[in-house]
Amino acid sequence: MKAAANLNGGSGDARFQQIVHRLLGDLFKAIDDLDITPDEVRAGVNYLNKLGQDGEAALLAAGLGLGLGLGLGLEKYLDIRMDAADKAVGLEGGTPRTIEGPLYVAGAPLRESVSRIDLNADADAGPLVIHGTVTGLDGKPLAGAVVECWHANSKGFYSHFDPTGAQDDFNLRGAVRTGADGKYEFRTLMPVGYGCPPQGSTQRLLDGLGRHGNRPAHVHFFVTSGDHRKLTTQFNIEGDPLIWDDFAYATREELIPSVTEKTGGAALGLKADAYKDIEFNLTLTPLVQGKDNQIVHRPRASATA
Ligand code: DHB
Ligand code: FE
Repeated sequence: MKAAANLNGGSGDARFQQIVHRLLGDLFKAIDDLDITPDEVRAGVNYLNKLGQDGEAALLAAGLGLGLGLGLGLEKYLDIRMDAADKAVGLEGGTPRTIEGPLYVAGAPLRESVSRIDLNADADAGPLVIHGTVTGLDGKPLAGAVVECWHANSKGFYSHFDPTGAQDDFNLRGAVRTGADGKYEFRTLMPVGYGCPPQGSTQRLLDGLGRHGNRPAHVHFFVTSGDHRKLTTQFNIEGDPLIWDDFAYATREELIPSVTEKTGGAALGLKADAYKDIEFNLTLTPLVQGKDNQIVHRPRASATA
């Protein structure tokens, strides 16, 4: 095992060797403890191959991951660790983080304060206005903050990843910069919850565990502002039956804002006068020792609008 990880081998990256050594050791221990057969190991290797072919490794990370025994997903587990790190330095009071998921696309057109992001018609989705104020922990509005949001359509599909090809690249994806009042607003359509591709590798594994691969309806956010930490979060749509049964474990009590019925949509350019309104305020937290310690580097899709 030490050889496989080239531990103390005199070359290579020491941190990488340490991690590989530990993961291999834990894997070998599992093979011993559970008497995992060569056929079962082979099935696992073939599964990883197919998982990559399906482009679903990031998807599986959310639904399963290291914390399986605890009933938690890997991405959620990393959030819990970041929450604990924040608590340890007394950093509380910001909008809670929750997982990014695998479906962000960089490059949405940046607008001032307000953006209408439903580019493609969707007969089954009603109009929705999402708005709020970006503040720091002191409650003061932050000017020049950039709020990005992305969400699914009425079929639970995200643009750029839509298997039906029905959506433009930045449908239901937007970016706005706040003015002096710290306010942002997205004019859009009501999303429906996502489900893992039914024939994909992630769902096949979940089937084997007797788990579903569905998420409640939700809207993702990235929020950045100069001297604050980047916030990665989502809210769920109140009333969705899967709110506490999310395969990716992203739901948090504080991230279920009220949905209110409003009229006056015609004046806002919405497709109907009656619309749903969600106020979701965003509180950013300061840098820690001058650093944004919650930036996560990972491959992300990008496109040009
Ligand atoms: C996952 C997250 C999402 O937000 C989503 O829409 C689909 C999948 C995930 O974490 O796997
Ligand atoms: Fe999502």
